[in-house]
Amino acid sequence: MTDKAHPHKFDPSWKENLDRPEHRQLDPEQVLDSLPLKPSDQVADVGAGTGFFTIPLARRLSSGKVLALDISPEMLAFLQQKVSRAGVANVEAALCADADFPVAPGNLDGVILFFVLHEAADRTVFLKAVKCLLKPGAWAALMDWEARAGSSSPPGPPLRVRVPPEEARRLALGAGFRVVAERAVGPNYYMLILEG
Ligand SMILES: C[S@@+](CC[C@H](N)C(=O)[O-])C[C@H]1O[C@@H](n2cnc3c(N)ncnc32)[C@H](O)[C@@H]1O
Repeated sequence: MTDKAHPHKFDPSWKENLDRPEHRQLDPEQVLDSLPLKPSDQVADVGAGTGFFTIPLARRLSSGKVLALDISPEMLAFLQQKVSRAGVANVEAALCADADFPVAPGNLDGVILFFVLHEAADRTVFLKAVKCLLKPGAWAALMDWEARAGSSSPPGPPLRVRVPPEEARRLALGAGFRVVAERAVGPNYYMLILEG
C-alpha cells in the first residue's frame, strides 16, 4: 500500500511570513533541547525552509555540521542568505528531490523533519528514503501540525493534508523506524523521536 498524500507544497512567496512569532508560536531553542544531539553530529534538516531551525541547530554542533536540504531553489537561496548573515560556517545547503537526497546512505547521526512530512508526495517513500541516510541506530525527529483546527491556531496547511500523530507513528513504523518518544509541542504541534 502506498500513502499518496494530497500534495500541498509550501508557497515560497510566503517565506517572509514563515518566521513571524505569531505564525510560529514556537521557541526553536526549546525544540532543539528535546533532541538527542551531540556536538559532533552530522545532521540533515530535510525541508529546511527559511532555516528557522537550521541556524540554531548549527550553533549547537560545534564540531558537527547541518546539511540543509530543500526541494525549492528559492527557499534554499533565502536560507543561504540568512546563514551567511548569521555568520554560521557549518551549514551546507543542497537541493533535493521529493524523496531523493544528495547524501550517501548510512552517513548521518540525525535528521530533523519539521513541518515537511505533510508535503511529501508519498509519505512512506519519503520516510524510507530518510531512514536510508542514517547510521544504524541514529535518530530522526519529526514535528508536524496536529490535524485539528484551534481557535488560537496560527495559519497552517489545510486540515485535509495534515498528518495526525497516530498516522505519523504508523507511517514511521511502516518505514522501519522505532518510535522512541512522542509528545505534544504546545497546542498545535506534535513531535516523534524515531530511531533508524
Ligand atoms: C512548511 S516549510 C517548513 C520549513 C522548516 N522545516 C521549518 O520548520 O521552518 C516546508 C519546507 O519543506 C520543503 N519541502 C517540501 N517537500 C519536501 C521534500 N519532499 N523534501 C525536502 N523539502 C521539501 C518546502 O519547499 C518548504 O521549504
